[in-house]
Amino acid sequence: MGKQKKIVLSGMRPSGRLHIGHLHGALTNWISMQEDYDCYFFSADWHALTTEYADTGSIRPDTAEMIADWLAVGLDPDKSVIFVQSHIKEHAELCLLLSMITPVPWLERNPTYKEQRKQIRDRDLSTHGFLGYPCLQAADIIIYRAHYVPVGSDQVPHVELTREIARRFNHFYGEVFPVPEPLLTKVPKIPGTDGRKMSKSYGNAITLADAPEEIKQKLSTMITDPARKRRTDPGDPDKCPVYDLHRVYSAPETLKWAAEGCCTAGIGCLECKAPLIEAVNGELEPIRERRARISADPGYVSQVIAAGDARAKKEAEQTMRAVREAMKLD
Ligand code: TRP
Ligand code: SF4
Repeated sequence: MGKQKKIVLSGMRPSGRLHIGHLHGALTNWISMQEDYDCYFFSADWHALTTEYADTGSIRPDTAEMIADWLAVGLDPDKSVIFVQSHIKEHAELCLLLSMITPVPWLERNPTYKEQRKQIRDRDLSTHGFLGYPCLQAADIIIYRAHYVPVGSDQVPHVELTREIARRFNHFYGEVFPVPEPLLTKVPKIPGTDGRKMSKSYGNAITLADAPEEIKQKLSTMITDPARKRRTDPGDPDKCPVYDLHRVYSAPETLKWAAEGCCTAGIGCLECKAPLIEAVNGELEPIRERRARISADPGYVSQVIAAGDARAKKEAEQTMRAVREAMKLD
């Protein structure tokens, strides 16, 4: 039976301690896939270098923190292969080979590439590595012959490129790779406490590690519909980032209560936030406990990674033997 399961693979750049945006954006989805698929999840530490090449010191600790958080939220190393990209050198070899058949215009046309070149102004991204990001990502994916790649919408262009690169490889050298499909994760809107997208770099995140008092403090001071300057001013839940969180965390009755109370100024914002604070805390409490147990055992995360690396390595080696043979390089 196990052999017939389809293969799922996804990665995350090491971002240190994770927040509830990661949880609802990717991780809950990854966790549910563990039951039905053979899953590979990895820290894309080489990909971090595409933007962090000048200051690499946080990549190692961030990987360890991130994987500890994965385990705390319920990724199960007995079910999934949890590993670190740079530990499997075969990714680099396949990336190099794929780079030989990938036309530069494909890379230059990539909307995520164009967007990031526009957005990220504080460092020089006119590097070979940054342009070639999708070649490495394609290698990550097809080296495990993945069928499905759960990602957010910003990553879909990369997976589309992976499909084209895999097809091109198969066209030149024979059918070695299945052509993977992106699985677009339905991502609920998780704004940060300032109303912008939740992000560590904005300092607006509710992290999985936050203590109950911190969560209370952050949510109590979270921005609301600016129309509600005074308690007697009615508001519009659709203009309120707190209400976006309610949509993720609250039951229909609570949602109705909050929306009505908001529009009629029947409740104040602090009142509205109370059940949310409760719900976020309720969700994070077991995660925090598991995280504390994981942190108390310093060798545990490294053991999980070593075991995952070994399983990943075996698959990657096998694929690379087929690749070299197909390319007459064996
Ligand atoms: N580019 C992805 C991100 O920034 C991370 C990543 C690297 C990835 N390799 C991957 C995701 C392979 C899915 C599959 O989030
Ligand atoms: Fe937002 Fe609730 Fe305040 Fe309305 S009452 S503005 S939904 S926090």
